[in-house]
Amino acid sequence: MDLYDFDKIITRENSDSVKYDLRQEYFGNADVLPMWVADMDFETPAFIRKAVVERANHPIYGYSIMSEEYFQAIINWTKTRHQWDIRKEWISFTPGIVPAINFSVLSYTNKGEGVIVQPPVYFPFFEAIKSNGRRQLDNQLLIHDGQYHIDFNDLEEKAKTSKLLLLSHPHNPVSRCWTKEELTTIGDICLRNNVIIISDEIHNDLILPGFKHYPMASLSEEIADITVTCIAPSKTFNIAGLATSSIIISNDDLRSRFQKTLQQLHIFRGNFFGYVASTAGYRHGGPWVDALMKYVQENFDYLADFLQKELPAIKLTPPEATYLAWLDFRETGLSDKQVKDKLILDAKLGFSHGPVFGEGGQGFQRMNLAAPRILIEKACQRMKKTFN
Ligand SMILES: Cc1ncc(COP(=O)(O)O)c(C=O)c1O
Repeated sequence: MDLYDFDKIITRENSDSVKYDLRQEYFGNADVLPMWVADMDFETPAFIRKAVVERANHPIYGYSIMSEEYFQAIINWTKTRHQWDIRKEWISFTPGIVPAINFSVLSYTNKGEGVIVQPPVYFPFFEAIKSNGRRQLDNQLLIHDGQYHIDFNDLEEKAKTSKLLLLSHPHNPVSRCWTKEELTTIGDICLRNNVIIISDEIHNDLILPGFKHYPMASLSEEIADITVTCIAPSKTFNIAGLATSSIIISNDDLRSRFQKTLQQLHIFRGNFFGYVASTAGYRHGGPWVDALMKYVQENFDYLADFLQKELPAIKLTPPEATYLAWLDFRETGLSDKQVKDKLILDAKLGFSHGPVFGEGGQGFQRMNLAAPRILIEKACQRMKKTFN
């Protein structure tokens, strides 16, 4: 028997879960099989739950600090998993990566200045630009032979009038694990044009077998000097509810500007459950993540095989990272609204609607595969019945 049981079904209804308990509100139907929000239906590993319970058993929940062990766990994990040496003083706490993206926009740009995104992309990037009164520039991803690529000529053009690039690395939703060459080219373009890179690496540990994640800031000292790296244990260990993440900035000036924003907003620390869970995850989580990604790969394989045999008009974008399947419905000939209605009303499946990811999202749906295989099988059968 495998050491970890990813097949186990866990009831999440009535656990204050966004994915389960907001279905009525989001889909207008509380019965859909929820495969939208990016958290996992696998249990948070036992070594993390144990650490949290131990802390919970201490009878006082007062103000608390981030311990030396907490920082060391982040530093060691980053070194052993990603071969990137970081220092404690480079790390700032934020209660999530979306807040950190917003703090970055506030720290490094003024109203009306340009911020580049690469759609289709994680949609809170758009809101961070718009709600802060900055200007969004789309460096549209290109599809060749079913796979996504960066339009570097366009990036160079857009960089000339921008201050910031919001990079999704690995990319949500298209599942690209950017190569060293691609990242170096992005870095060189940003260096030439004085563009700061906000590298959202929240999915950095969720890399499928055969691919490798290169932290943007690990590529060269020059690139590190213009890069703000956002990491978190939230996706890796399924602890998003604990809202704990780390922003790593080696450049003193960029770091002090970021920290000034944190001070102005009075963001100094998070909750101790987040700290102990992060520490336990980063200390003990290597074998668990390896097993997780093997299981996720098998879910991708199952889905790819099923679509090819049973629903060839729906195409799976070749997955490289994350547990998010980016499905191309364009060959079905249906409109986005028709696909959405059929998924929700007929198939009773709650996917993320492609167009919300911006330009290039039309005709696509995002399906979360971080669930026991039996649920993936069920979703596939429902898709077959609906779209055949
Ligand atoms: C690319 C990306 N960034 C950030 C987040 C969320 O970050 P947080 O919950 O830490 O704000 C997600 C969650 O899906 C994501 O996919």
